[in-house]
Amino acid sequence: MKEREKFASRIGFILISAGCAIGLGNVWRFPYITGKYGGAAFVLIYLVFLVILGIPIMTMEFAVGRASQRSATKSFEVLEPKGTKWHLYGWGALAGNYLLMMFYTTVGGWTLAYIYKMATGKLTGLDADGVGEVFNQLLSSPAELTLWMVIIVFLGFGVCSLGLQKGVERITKWMMSCLFLIMIVLCIRSVTLEGATEGLKFYLVPDFSKMTQSEGGLFEAIFAAMGQAFFTLSLGIGAMAIFGSYIGKDRALTGETVHICLLDTTVALMAGLIIFPACFAFSVDPGEGPGLVFVTLPNIFNQMKGGRIWGALFFVFMSFAALSTIIAVFENIISCTIDKWGISRKKAVLINGVLILILSLPCVLGFNLLSDFHPLGGTSSIQDLEDFIVSNNLLPLGSLVYLLFCTSRYGWGWKNFRKEANTGEGLKFPAWARIYVSYILPVIILFIFVMGYLQKFFPNLF
Ligand code: PHE
Repeated sequence: MKEREKFASRIGFILISAGCAIGLGNVWRFPYITGKYGGAAFVLIYLVFLVILGIPIMTMEFAVGRASQRSATKSFEVLEPKGTKWHLYGWGALAGNYLLMMFYTTVGGWTLAYIYKMATGKLTGLDADGVGEVFNQLLSSPAELTLWMVIIVFLGFGVCSLGLQKGVERITKWMMSCLFLIMIVLCIRSVTLEGATEGLKFYLVPDFSKMTQSEGGLFEAIFAAMGQAFFTLSLGIGAMAIFGSYIGKDRALTGETVHICLLDTTVALMAGLIIFPACFAFSVDPGEGPGLVFVTLPNIFNQMKGGRIWGALFFVFMSFAALSTIIAVFENIISCTIDKWGISRKKAVLINGVLILILSLPCVLGFNLLSDFHPLGGTSSIQDLEDFIVSNNLLPLGSLVYLLFCTSRYGWGWKNFRKEANTGEGLKFPAWARIYVSYILPVIILFIFVMGYLQKFFPNLF
């Protein structure tokens, strides 16, 4: 069999995995839900989940990828005990990646649209209603929305078609470096705004009473924090596991996971540092919801000196975050199809490119031609449905599959997992964690899953 492709460097592996984790989840989802659930106290709980849930599960995904040298469609087959059915989840993981991209490409397209709108001054001088109107116009135009989606899909598959080292690794490394630079510049600009201190307080000084006063109360906030931890770290659908299959055995996996989680968390926290001081400096409500970045933020840039440039730069930052995730997930999808059907990379890029373009259309059209369709009732859109299937179902359940696979003796088992995770230099997965990951963590995840359902379909219970 042909030797599997490998990353050229360790830093490449870390930056690409971080690129997969760092995305709209950090720049768009994290700030708006933090705003919604009252700021610093929420952030604190979120950080706890990253440690108790994120680090073990990400290490497990990497271990499965590295030991099997395969993507999610084949990895279970290679490692499972004969006669067991773990490999069926390969399909679930693949479906999860497609479903995620079905709405992610649309939001990714918005970020490109906003670079253009900011840079060309289409938002300059507008008041809050005006900016809202521009966003609504974008949503209601199927042609424009499709165009931006198509551009981002082309960019993503274009990079993947160049290969693992020449495309994915080289371009993502460059984009991530730019992303960090832009982020630092924007952070300095935001925290030095007059009136920024209030925002810093809201964001950094925990006030638990604020959290209990948020709409769904303390419990909903805790639940949201757990969901955000899964989403931001890309856990449960093999999106991380794939990168484990591209590295050698010289580093222990827990240490690598910690690096990646730290980078992801830094970006999320800094996105907050950019957004909240600016909100307070210009008296904008940070609890605005999903529109926070696309509707509220342009208002802030409008009131700022040089706002057109700062605004464009912010959306470049955001689109790099989105694109690095899109490239990583496309790479996973491509690799899954190559592993499963033995086709060439070129063919896999072509087939999946067309498939993703078509699959992304329902989400795009859900905002205009199909906007009367509310799959989850209320005002829900097709995007909400896709997000719900992925974030509330596949990510927690998939994480549970990885977790049980790595701890149960009916799966790959604790011993094999730990041996793989601890091969190489660096931080090791501790033996004492066995009881925790085998018995306590699965219960926590199941709890999130059940609560997610109850909250969605029986909101009156809360
Ligand atoms: N972590 C990505 C983000 O924050 C989203 C993602 C979830 C990617 C699951 C892959 C798998 O935007």
